[in-house]
Amino acid sequence: MTASSNRARDVSAFRARRIVVGVSGSIAAYKAPTIIRLLRGAGHEVRTVPTQAALRFIGAPALAAVSGSPVQTGVFDDPAAVEHVAMGEWAELVLVAPASADLLARAAAGRADDLLTATLLTTTAPAIMAPAMHTQMWNHPATRENVATLRRRGVTIIEPDRGALTGSGYGTGRLPEPERIVARALSILDGTPQTLSGQHVVVSAGGTREPLDPVRYLGNRSSGRQGCAIARAAAARGARVTLVSAHVDSTVLAELPPSIQVIPVTTALELRDAVRDAARDADAVVMAAAVADFRPAAVSASKLKKHAPGAPTTQADSAGPVLALVENPDVLAGLVTDPPRTDGARTLVVGFAAETGDADGDVLTHGAAKARRKGADLLAVNAVGGGRGFGDVPNAIVVLDASGHEVARAHGSKQDVADALVELIAARLAH
Ligand code: CTP
Repeated sequence: MTASSNRARDVSAFRARRIVVGVSGSIAAYKAPTIIRLLRGAGHEVRTVPTQAALRFIGAPALAAVSGSPVQTGVFDDPAAVEHVAMGEWAELVLVAPASADLLARAAAGRADDLLTATLLTTTAPAIMAPAMHTQMWNHPATRENVATLRRRGVTIIEPDRGALTGSGYGTGRLPEPERIVARALSILDGTPQTLSGQHVVVSAGGTREPLDPVRYLGNRSSGRQGCAIARAAAARGARVTLVSAHVDSTVLAELPPSIQVIPVTTALELRDAVRDAARDADAVVMAAAVADFRPAAVSASKLKKHAPGAPTTQADSAGPVLALVENPDVLAGLVTDPPRTDGARTLVVGFAAETGDADGDVLTHGAAKARRKGADLLAVNAVGGGRGFGDVPNAIVVLDASGHEVARAHGSKQDVADALVELIAARLAH
């Protein structure tokens, strides 16, 4: 299936959905209009239900203007309309962003003292909450228990980010960027299982370039499509995704959800540093990038000339320059032998092996030997060459474990293959 037919399928399957956006009393309420705008921009209908406390941070007219409909906060604003029941029935999704500690407590207790909590009690639609508060409140046992209760009841909680908080604070409690919240909301509406909720997945994609001089490099033909498809599949399943991008086609990057954090790199050494840095709190790392095994031993500061001074000037006289290369580190193997996580938790390490097969063995024989050599938890082996495996063409993988034994097979578009691999990763992480 081509990218254009994928897009055609997406467009024909589109249906505008009815989304209630709840806004509670947190300074992060100022991000709610962006969330509402993104949801409406994606073609969905939004009704906004702020709490009284939310209205101390953001005005009802602003919320009404971006929602395109009036906002209500109380159950007595229009008693004849029985709004708390009507709103819950209308909703196909209830998204509370930001969700304050107080809102989480009231929702966990089953309170119904305003329109938002009443709507949460009456709706049968899926609910998502994106908490935002100070670290102390987030870490308090009361909030931990409320979050656990809500999760047990099926509410999706989007973990807050780490970063600067209001005042001089720094820590966990920041509302994630609106793009990430909206991406989660939309994938829940799609029915995509949220099997990677709360997990951090690092993916490398594309191909490194090893400079020779300011204008030339040693590179490879990887477009980055497979890695980007994996990043997209992980994000759709609720993961926080970091993509270490080595010269991924700009058209491929442009199709990624904005929730994915993209770190651009050029060389294998830069890629190693970026992957290891991102992997310090990663639950899984997928090395889909084509990493150059070697780099030029020296990089010329100025453009190399065809004929160095004093060198032969005719083709017939010249044997051609000889390029000295040094070996690059094996990033994948390094993740296994020297894990970047310092908190003792394990990171699932997944590699790719593009093989052609040769006189010494077929694709799978080489793949199994590589799986044992690299020691990654999973190695996705695909056949390349002969028009297969590179570019926008159907793909097939055989997934091996660290001892070279087959654990799964997948084929189809790069997105189909990515979906299957990411489901396998999610299943492994769940154990
Ligand atoms: N890889 C890596 N660092 C390298 C080379 C490769 O992390 N310096 C990773 C790739 O991202 C991929 C896996 O290792 O996940 C296998 O890459 P591949 O090029 O097939 O393996 P090589 O070790 O280069 O083996 P060979 O070229 O001999 O087949």
